[in-house]
Amino acid sequence: MTAAPFSIPRLIGHRGAARHAPENTLSGMRTAALQGALWVELDVKLTADGVPVLLHDDDLDRTTNGHGPAAQMDFAEMRKLDAGSWFSREFRGEKVPTLAEAIQAAQLLDLGLNLEIKPCPGRDEQTAGIALSLALGMWPADRPPPLISSFSVEALEMAKTVAPHWPRGYLIDKVPANWAEIADRLDVSTININAKRETAVTVAAYRATGRQVLAYTVNDAEEARRLFSWGVKGLFTDTPKGLLHGLTGQG
Ligand code: G3P
Ligand code: MG
Repeated sequence: MTAAPFSIPRLIGHRGAARHAPENTLSGMRTAALQGALWVELDVKLTADGVPVLLHDDDLDRTTNGHGPAAQMDFAEMRKLDAGSWFSREFRGEKVPTLAEAIQAAQLLDLGLNLEIKPCPGRDEQTAGIALSLALGMWPADRPPPLISSFSVEALEMAKTVAPHWPRGYLIDKVPANWAEIADRLDVSTININAKRETAVTVAAYRATGRQVLAYTVNDAEEARRLFSWGVKGLFTDTPKGLLHGLTGQG
């Protein structure tokens, strides 16, 4: 089954609104919505006991007051951590959210979701399988489907199996020579590129496959204009409000 066509906006809050609130938190989602973002991108991985949560790094150290690999901590322990103080005192006590909480928040905030499957090493299929089974089971019927993206080909293969009708995004950083073959095999709807690595020529090649191109992470209006002029459809930004203002010449 091929994924249904879908629509994605020009600006997507990156990890929520990562410049303005701690990344991958419910405060980050609220902030993105308040800044006018219509969609947010969130990173999903599993706790040791298999609970899908929002977290970017394999280790807890940078974005929480915990230490060591996230894959070795059960949810009950992870839930005791502070995921806000590292960012600023204003966010002290912020929790590592579950994917379920994030889906509920997105519904309330009227936010579209790009769920990036971000497996800890060796957990690619498991992370996609568990996270997407949960998301499918609770996805509100009246909400547009999420975009499921990953750097992990194994995770995207699992996404294609578990949620074939949800659009997939092939995330790439250093572009493999066989990217087109992989994109075909995974039947992805979007190619999500590193804005700093690409050119008008490479973007044209991605678009020539009939797919939409999204680019990360763009916080500068001039860079955004250049990418849009190449035909990039949407940008992941840490600052939805700042980029919107830069692009439209407001305050
Ligand atoms: O999904 C876009 C972007 O988030 C990919 O890179 O490392 O910020 O998750 P990263
Ligand atoms: Mg991400």
